[in-house]
Order: sequence, then structure tokens, then C-alpha cells
Amino acid sequence: MVEEMYSNSQTITATIPKAEVADLHFYYGSFHALKNINMVVPEKQVTALIGPSGCGKTTFLRCFNRMHDLYPGNRYQGAIWLDSDTNILSRKVDPIEVRMRISMVFQKPNPFPKSIYENVAYGLRVRGENNRQVIAEKVETALTNAALWDEVKDRLKDSAYNLSGGQQQRLCIARALVADPEIILFDEPTSALDPIATASIEELISTLKQKVTILIVTHSMQQAARFSDYTAFMYLGELVEFGSTKEVFAQPAKKQTKDYISGRIG
Ligand SMILES: Nc1ncnc2c1ncn2[C@@H]1O[C@H](COP(=O)(O)OP(=O)(O)O)[C@@H](O)[C@H]1O
Ligand SMILES: [Mg+2]
Repeated sequence: MVEEMYSNSQTITATIPKAEVADLHFYYGSFHALKNINMVVPEKQVTALIGPSGCGKTTFLRCFNRMHDLYPGNRYQGAIWLDSDTNILSRKVDPIEVRMRISMVFQKPNPFPKSIYENVAYGLRVRGENNRQVIAEKVETALTNAALWDEVKDRLKDSAYNLSGGQQQRLCIARALVADPEIILFDEPTSALDPIATASIEELISTLKQKVTILIVTHSMQQAARFSDYTAFMYLGELVEFGSTKEVFAQPAKKQTKDYISGRIG
């Protein structure tokens, strides 16, 4: 067992951490939702957050782009270090700045009521880009990287609402990609999709890790096992176990992880 844990930490230290979570706590008012979380998010890898409903996966994910700032009464404690030098939870760090570096894709596809093209171009315009040529090139690149370009290149002016659910989610991924983020957060991005659209999103996320670090919440253990490199198992607001996906699934170190993976809790 000791040897297992040793080899486990070896694999983790072998990769470069893009982010490091240190003694993180989070409170919704008086409710202590995240308790002393410590982990690394390896660079250009897919890290999955798993655990039963209500254990704090979404709460944890939303700390990474300071989403909780939008509601009064929410409180972070501890740090999330980006590239070892910026604590993105610090009050001195502008949340808008954080969201430029770390973008998010939600559970349900949520395109803007605009054309396919404008959905992607919008993120560039709000950042002050107004060179039409530059915008056109970046929109094409983002749609290509989101595996959507071929399906929409002849209908860029159509409303995004005319796309299928799976296409809308790939459009949201293009929107997240267009400003070259360093990390993309996904919160159960396939839970509203059919199996075929799910498979195409999973394949897409696997290829995206060449360019960007990925942190994904999934309630599907099969999904985590299929395509993540690292897995974090959370339970009741705590991080119970973190390691390479292979090790977490094949040889969980903690009993709670074993119980969850074998279907005894959750
Ligand atoms: N806005 C909120 N205010 C108060 N409690 C919340 C809020 N959002 C979530 N919670 C609570 O925080 C805990 C974790 O929720 P969540 O992060 O959504 O879990 P998960 O994504 O793992 O299902 C749950 O007990 C939930 O009821
Ligand atoms: Mg959730």
C-alpha cells in the first residue's frame, strides 16, 4: 500500500502543476461547503472531479474562476495558486482577469441569442479586439478546435439556437477557447446530451488537452475512467483522494473511494 501511494505521488510530481490548491475552504454564508482542500491541477492534462451529488464538486470548480464573488455572503479561505505565483482568490486579483485566463463551460449549453459567428466573436470584442480580419481568423480557429467548423462554416449567420444540443455545447467550447484560456472548467458538460453527442464532446476534450489544462466535474465514473488522466474524489466537502485515474480506479487508497466506485455510496 505504501508503495502504491509512493508510485502515485511520483506520477503527480512528474507533471507540471498548472494550479495548486492550498488549504482551501469555502463558505456559503455560515454553511461550510469546502473543507481544507489541497491538490494540484496538472498542466495540459484532464483532471476529473467525482463524488456523490451535493459533495461540493460544482462549488469547488466555481472557485477557479471566482464565480462565487457574484453573490454576497460567499467566502473563500486559503489559496489557489496559478503558475505558482498568483493566488487567484486574493482580493488584490481582479476576477475579470481570472476569467480571461480560466474559462468555463456549463452543464446545459447556453449560447447567446446571437448568430453562430457572433457567439464566438463576442469574447474577442469585449476584450477590445476590433480588427475584422483578426476576429474572423480567431473565430475560425476556435470553431475548428471545437470540432464544429465544418458543420457551420456555411451558416455562420444563423442563430445559434438552430443548432442541435451537441453542436450548441461545441459552440460554447469554441466560445471558451477563443481568448486562449490557460484552463477550461467543465461542469458536467454532457449531462444534457445524448450518447452520440456525449461521445463527440468526450473525444473533443481529450484532444483539447494538448493546448489547455482541463478540470471537469462529472457524475459519471465511467466518463472519468474513460478520458481523464487524474481523478479527485470528493465527499461531504472534502477531498478524499487524488491520484492518477488508473490508480484511483484500480487501487483506491481510501475506503470511501472504494465504496463509491463500487456503487455502495452515491
Ligand atoms: N448557493 C448556495 N447556497 C447555499 N448552499 C449551497 C449553494 N450552492 C450549493 N450549496 C450546497 O453546497 C453543497 C455542495 O453543492 P454542490 O457544489 O452543488 O455539489 P455537487 O456539484 O457535488 O452536486 C450542497 O450541500 C449544496 O446544497
Ligand atoms: Mg454540481
